[in-house]
Amino acid sequence: MEDKYLFLEQQNVDPYLVEALKGWAAKYPVDEEVEKRVSAPPIPFYGREILEGAIAALLQGENLLLTGAKATGKNVLAENLAWLFGRPVYNVSFHVNTSSAELIGTDTFLNNEVQLRRGIIYRCAQYGGFGILDEINMARNDAVSVLHATLDYRRSIDVPGYDYIDLHPATRFIGTMNYGYAGTKELNEALVSRFLVIDMPAQTEDTLNYILEKMFPDMREKAREQFAGLFLDIQLKAENGEISTKSLDLRGMAAAIGTVRQGLGPAAAVRMGITNKCFDIFEKEIVEDVVKTRIPADWKREDVFA
Ligand SMILES: Nc1ncnc2c1ncn2[C@@H]1O[C@H](COP(=O)(O)OP(=O)(O)O)[C@@H](O)[C@H]1O
Ligand SMILES: [Mg+2]
Repeated sequence: MEDKYLFLEQQNVDPYLVEALKGWAAKYPVDEEVEKRVSAPPIPFYGREILEGAIAALLQGENLLLTGAKATGKNVLAENLAWLFGRPVYNVSFHVNTSSAELIGTDTFLNNEVQLRRGIIYRCAQYGGFGILDEINMARNDAVSVLHATLDYRRSIDVPGYDYIDLHPATRFIGTMNYGYAGTKELNEALVSRFLVIDMPAQTEDTLNYILEKMFPDMREKAREQFAGLFLDIQLKAENGEISTKSLDLRGMAAAIGTVRQGLGPAAAVRMGITNKCFDIFEKEIVEDVVKTRIPADWKREDVFA
């Protein structure tokens, strides 16, 4: 699996960083118990500058906060980084009810005694994991404040009533935060100061063509251009505040293209993957109009796949 670095070389990522990365990954073997958490991402991340910044920061021991609009590849980047660094992944979805007990640990009664049930951050810290703190801005401040010592130079966890543990040297945290066209819940300053921040760029014709070609190598070029164009049209309307980001859904578009490959007509597939994600009739009409200009109603599977 040495060619897991190949996509970096193909994008001309600084060879110095790639060499450093290989050396780093070889230094920290993964505990057998958590090997299953090391897994290849669904798609290689495309974007040289972003990759270089992220790799350098993580090599340096920093944590990363990925900010940006929906579908800019924040989670895909985080998964790519964990894979490149050869680390087990610990995914935490943050929400208003995220508690410190869930993150750090809680008492549990086992074998007639009270024991610590290790929380996900605790386990991530122990095994040298990459903790993906998804939508970290959605949590309440008091829940995430327990992570301050974990995320800064102290690199430790103080479990109330138990031990004080140091993070495994390979442990890193990558936060994600949707930030963009629609309103965003801000992340507090004390937390932001514990990360290096990468602002993820919006999709371009170039990135979309790359993504679609990777996902659907057998798609006709003309269809690929139209689907990429459709996404860019919707992205522009969302940027301008004409519509929400509900239909700006790359995963939904990929799912629609996948169902076309199964044999469904492209218009019906796009309705399920994109248009029907709007629950506002005016917005839906705008999206329908955009779709019409890109995906002709009489297109068949053969127009999309050779
Ligand atoms: N730069 C990129 N490289 C590869 N795939 C990308 C990129 N940007 C977006 N994607 C694709 O877009 C979809 C959404 O990505 P995701 O990481 O879930 O976005 P976010 O977390 O920013 O909302 C995924 O299916 C992914 O394949
Ligand atoms: Mg995401």
